[in-house]
Amino acid sequence: MENLFVFLIVCILGYLLVKFIKYRPLYPFMPLRFNFGKRRNTFRKALALLDQIDAKVLVETGTSRQGLRAAKGDGAATIVFGKWAEQHGAFLHSVDINEQSVIASQREVDIQGMSKNVKVYLSDSLVFLKDFKEQVDFLYLDSYDYSKDPEVQKKSQLHHLAEFKSIEHRLHRQSVVLIDDCRLPNGGKGKMAVDYMTQTNWKVLVNAYQILLVRKDSGL
Ligand SMILES: C[S@@+](CC[C@H](N)C(=O)[O-])C[C@H]1O[C@@H](n2cnc3c(N)ncnc32)[C@H](O)[C@@H]1O
Repeated sequence: MENLFVFLIVCILGYLLVKFIKYRPLYPFMPLRFNFGKRRNTFRKALALLDQIDAKVLVETGTSRQGLRAAKGDGAATIVFGKWAEQHGAFLHSVDINEQSVIASQREVDIQGMSKNVKVYLSDSLVFLKDFKEQVDFLYLDSYDYSKDPEVQKKSQLHHLAEFKSIEHRLHRQSVVLIDDCRLPNGGKGKMAVDYMTQTNWKVLVNAYQILLVRKDSGL
């Protein structure tokens, strides 16, 4: 009986230890209760680069359809980069093709008091990016959902490549590009975009669940 009790305590402590080690908050930038999991380190690096280049125009494809609730699942990037925009006098443009995603994301933006620095648009990202007129300092690609189906994987990769090509001419020497959901079977969302970019004058700064890229001559 006593041995069983000790065993249970060891199991509980082990479980709590694993939870603690895997817990990846963006504290103090975001409240401690939000776990950003596999995106934490790349978010942190991207935010540091935004500081460094004094970014003013941020663009995201695929908005935070679950607000901050999905910090670990989807990433909650609209709120993370929206908060950075709010603190630095910048502006985040987030676009999504799904009306429910737009409504939910805009609601969270309003709750967080970020509406002066963030706008969520209802549009196909390709149309939105083609019509976008400003120079872009930070581009975050995270739209067409990836899946286990190879056909969907290919469509998602082609879509993210097309997104990049649509806005490429608005990127400057120190623009920063982050692509989500890359460390997945067959290369994830970013496979084709990253291949295309690295064949031109882009280099990979961080290759993890997300891929972070800057230009080779950016000095970053
Ligand atoms: C993974 S979620 C985005 C998560 C968000 N970036 C975050 O960090 O919380 C993907 C979103 O992309 C949107 N999407 C899919 N295809 C799209 C397209 N062609 N244009 C714009 N948005 C698209 C979906 O409606 C969905 O809301």
